[in-house]
Amino acid sequence: MAKIITIAHQKGGVGKSTLAINLALCFQDQLSVAVADTDHQGSLYHLKDELPGLTIIGADQFKDLHQLDYDLVIVDTPPYLSDQLPELFRRSDFVLVPTKAGFFDVMAIRSTLALIHQAKANAAIVLNMVKPRTSLTNDVIQLLAEMQTPLLKTVIHDRVSITRSTLTAGILNGNDPKAKAEIMALAEEVVNYIIL
Ligand SMILES: Nc1ncnc2c1ncn2[C@@H]1O[C@H](COP(=O)(O)OP(=O)(O)OP(=O)(O)O)[C@@H](O)[C@H]1O
Ligand SMILES: [Mg+2]
Repeated sequence: MAKIITIAHQKGGVGKSTLAINLALCFQDQLSVAVADTDHQGSLYHLKDELPGLTIIGADQFKDLHQLDYDLVIVDTPPYLSDQLPELFRRSDFVLVPTKAGFFDVMAIRSTLALIHQAKANAAIVLNMVKPRTSLTNDVIQLLAEMQTPLLKTVIHDRVSITRSTLTAGILNGNDPKAKAEIMALAEEVVNYIIL
């Protein structure tokens, strides 16, 4: 059975697709991996030609995701709360919720988290696009602490190399060691959530 990792946040531009691709490329060394694009305007689907080494599939039906012939399927979701999400969350082995670290950004994940909670899904939040050398503000720390979903230790910073990563076939093939270390740390933390 394929393991399913879903990346979700109803807000656009928080790095769902970027993390989906980079995690997939990271796991690909050891596992057979596909990225599933549930977005009909699917930005990912259009990247197919730029990422020939990565299997990108369309996914309209979640029922069969576990039956797909891969070790791991990473599901990228669109920037709205579709009525397909509850079922997808129930079927996921792990749901990753990326967010920027501003107060209103973190506020915005609450409705996604509520759906995840209702689905009793195994999930965690990851901070993305955090400006290097800045610390979280107290209001954000408090807000995150009040959520019922854990926060990953790994923080992904705002890095030019990550913006460019999909075009350069992933962080791991790039030459920014800090970005590479962050993506690898993220992959490792995510694996631990799936195993537990
Ligand atoms: N850590 C990062 N550092 C720098 N740029 C980033 C980082 N993460 C994502 N980006 C950039 O931010 C933009 C939005 O990212 P992405 O398309 O992955 O978001 P998304 O959540 O999938 O958006 P949508 O919901 O609209 O599909 C992209 O240009 C991407 O390259
Ligand atoms: Mg996207």
